[in-house]
Amino acid sequence: MTKRKGIILAGGTGSRLFPITSGVSKQLLPVYDKPMIYYPISVLMLSGIREIAMITTPQDRAQFERALGDGSHWGVSLTYIEQPSPDGLAQAYILAEDFLNGAPSAMILGDNLFFGHGLPDHLEEAAKQAQGGTVFGYRVTDPERYGVVDIDADGKVTAIVEKPEVAPSPYAVTGLYFLDGTAPAKAKSVKPSARGELEITSLLELYLDEGSLTVQQLGRGFAWLDTGTYASLLDAGNFVRTLSERQGMQVGCLEEIAFDAGWIDRDALAERAEYYSKNAYGAYLKGLLTETSKIK
Ligand code: DAU
Repeated sequence: MTKRKGIILAGGTGSRLFPITSGVSKQLLPVYDKPMIYYPISVLMLSGIREIAMITTPQDRAQFERALGDGSHWGVSLTYIEQPSPDGLAQAYILAEDFLNGAPSAMILGDNLFFGHGLPDHLEEAAKQAQGGTVFGYRVTDPERYGVVDIDADGKVTAIVEKPEVAPSPYAVTGLYFLDGTAPAKAKSVKPSARGELEITSLLELYLDEGSLTVQQLGRGFAWLDTGTYASLLDAGNFVRTLSERQGMQVGCLEEIAFDAGWIDRDALAERAEYYSKNAYGAYLKGLLTETSKIK
């Protein structure tokens, strides 16, 4: 199988968070001690993906480049692609067609935060699938706000609908999609919805029609957090703070993931620790250099 590549969709107007996002992209806002975008990058890195396309608005691109660079300090390669206007999630596959060059992909929304023990196993399972598509279902109390997946007793997908008035199940489709190399071609056949967008759900329906859409449930104990309101953004930051302070382990630390994967060496990690030497993030990185415990 050609190596799977990553896409992070980080465009949009951020209008639901105005005025916070009047001058800065939503996905660069802080979630406790890091920009929001670090968390979705960490999910792709934990999936073993090292080639990532970052899709931003034309006006926010420079800020993303300044914040993230070319990715080499995390042992990954970042390619920037502009989305001129927010015409839908499925459009990302059309914009990234040349970048993907036929490869299978994992796309994650730049404002979707996933936490939970066992996440790497879920990601590995999805990454193994050379053909078809995998989505991740998550039980919520308000499924009507999301794409919703219905499943039969064997866990097979029977339907997928975008923001239904009456949800067929409590399982929201999270913003993480593992699709095969046919996604760009399929995305081109998607027609705009009533809200004028190329819906990701319409693209996923094409996989469902082919019988090649799989759902993995993220069960009890997983956190899939929303950052769509002032309160949920603050809650997400507090959640990360609680976890990392209690355990003394970082959440979404890209240097740590790269070091554990062997994508950067000790010298590169030491250089990053030095760069952040004035704060707790740098002290944490320094600690990794002397860490002996193998239990993560
Ligand atoms: O969060 C998961 C949900 O994301 C899924 O359950 C839905 O099926 C999917 O359609 C999407 O739902 P929303 O309609 O709530 O997505 P929203 O328009 O808020 O866009 C999600 C993020 O993607 C947001 O940070 C902005 C960015 N975006 C959105 C569009 C439409 C882009 O970068 N480009 C776009 O064209």
